[in-house]
Amino acid sequence: MKKILVIHGPNLNLLGEREPGVYGTDTFDSINGEIMELALEKGLSCEIFQSNHEGEIIDKLHMARKEFDGVILNAGAYTHYSYAIRDAIAAIKIPVIEVHLSNIHARDEFRHTSVIAPVCVGQIAGFGKHSYFLAVEAMKRIVGE
Ligand code: DQA
Repeated sequence: MKKILVIHGPNLNLLGEREPGVYGTDTFDSINGEIMELALEKGLSCEIFQSNHEGEIIDKLHMARKEFDGVILNAGAYTHYSYAIRDAIAAIKIPVIEVHLSNIHARDEFRHTSVIAPVCVGQIAGFGKHSYFLAVEAMKRIVGE
């Protein structure tokens, strides 16, 4: 069974109560439950990790290169300026899919740039919690059986 890792970056633990007009009212736990359910349905083993700390996200990406077949990453605001997370993604050989609940290209100017996009397989943004589900579907196609 292929193993995927979902990483949620800073402030995503507050989903459900954080700016519901932008990110929706589904809670962090309920979205994770749906991700786990879909992954299982697709025959993927799935672990979910959240951190508000850049270094912890980097450590997890390093660890993932030996233990997982692919990573789905919502790096939150780090997306827009963390060269360290970008370098960590570039350093590992497993595919990383970038995810955002909101359409970052339709929001504040500073969110239009993703410094991680060039080293990710692709970016899925703007579909709310469904961005994660689409990423699970995409990852299934990439990692296979
Ligand atoms: C986000 C978009 C980022 O700009 C923001 O900083 C987040 C969430 C999203 O999922 O839409 O924390 O990554």
